[in-house]
Amino acid sequence: MSINGNFSIPKTVVLVGLMGAGKTCIGKKLAQAMNLPFVDADAEIEKAAGCSIAEIFEEHGETYFRDRERMVIQRLLEDPVQILSTGGGAFMDEGTRTTILEKGISLWLRADLDILVERTSRRTHRPLLRNGNHREILSGLIDERYPIYAKADITTESAEGSADITTEHALQGIRDFCGNPTS
Ligand code: S3P
Repeated sequence: MSINGNFSIPKTVVLVGLMGAGKTCIGKKLAQAMNLPFVDADAEIEKAAGCSIAEIFEEHGETYFRDRERMVIQRLLEDPVQILSTGGGAFMDEGTRTTILEKGISLWLRADLDILVERTSRRTHRPLLRNGNHREILSGLIDERYPIYAKADITTESAEGSADITTEHALQGIRDFCGNPTS
């Protein structure tokens, strides 16, 4: 990578964006480049609940899930600086968003519809994509969510191709936002 991740950040970087944007993949790469821990909010919610997100949605509904998600993200943002990946709906919840904007550096991984459709087509674990056509659902979510995701501190395009390039762009975005000179 041409941009090294050897600079310090004052707060946890929180990745937001739609399902399939690559938040977990890029989050892990950012953590590696910056030598910071990586944590995935969805995985932490599952760990705390002792069951999968799909099961939480089925048994308790989305409102219950959003409450758990808010609590888990609030807790993770009390930890030392790290890279935190969040589920696609997290930043849409006003309370969660307020905490992220206050306690973290938010980075929206923005991807076009075709890319999201392609990337989410390989897996079936996401409750919001289970009942219907992925393209139609994701297109609706883009309309609804992109104006809100745009409130994030940093926007990085998650284009087709190498995840390393997207990671480089994200690192540059974080560096610029934090006022660090380019190395
Ligand atoms: C959701 C996205 C999922 C997960 C849950 C709800 C959403 O996370 O939190 O299924 O509302 O967009 P990913 O974005 O990591 O798939």
